[in-house]
Amino acid sequence: MIIAANFKTNHTRSSTKEFVLDVNEYLEANTNNEVYIFPSTTALDKFDTVTNLNLGVQNAYHVEQGSYTGEIGSIQLEEFAIKTILLGHSERRHILKESQEEITKKFNFYKDLGYKIIYCIGEPLEVKNISYEETMSYIWGQLDGIDISYENLILAYEPVWAIGTGISATSDDIKAIHLGIKEKIDKPLLYGGSVKVKNVRDICLIDGVDGVLIGTASWIKEDFIQILENTKDI
Ligand code: 13P
Repeated sequence: MIIAANFKTNHTRSSTKEFVLDVNEYLEANTNNEVYIFPSTTALDKFDTVTNLNLGVQNAYHVEQGSYTGEIGSIQLEEFAIKTILLGHSERRHILKESQEEITKKFNFYKDLGYKIIYCIGEPLEVKNISYEETMSYIWGQLDGIDISYENLILAYEPVWAIGTGISATSDDIKAIHLGIKEKIDKPLLYGGSVKVKNVRDICLIDGVDGVLIGTASWIKEDFIQILENTKDI
């Protein structure tokens, strides 16, 4: 399974370091999972980790360097040997108003650099409430301009209404959407949205689920390690 932790705007540099070192220690002995941690950019460092633990960034600008106040380019990421990026997250789309065009520019830039891209898609509640067809069409719109054949692409289906709400999508919902996506796109597909210690195993066992992208429950080190433990044999 692919298990990814999105720290969002949580953890300091020192608590991130402790977290990464402890997860690394666990992984040295325990699991076949492919693990990703997306810390805050202020917490990036040169972590010496096992090969199945990867550090990535939650966002970066589509430039090497230049005059883009407040942004981070690929030169700054190179310093920490970062080769993984999360793109299209719903918080960037909806709260920070990142457009599909802007996301596509980032995708193409980091694709050209060979980055592993975890690319997020997912519908808001008002779209889900219309119909399955409408939901799928919304999701295809979020893939507009994206090279879905890119070899280092991982998709993450995160319904907006399930993020941070404590209400995960049902198994039937997850299965229907995942299989719908997989009919057209042959890439690993994660589920995200209120994944917890208690439900992670059941979610990972759903047809069409290749792993999970976790926010809230991943911020507590003990919970994240328990999540790795609960999924290590799937
Ligand atoms: P929660 O796990 O807090 O619902 O967040 C999911 C998410 O947005 C991961 O990217």
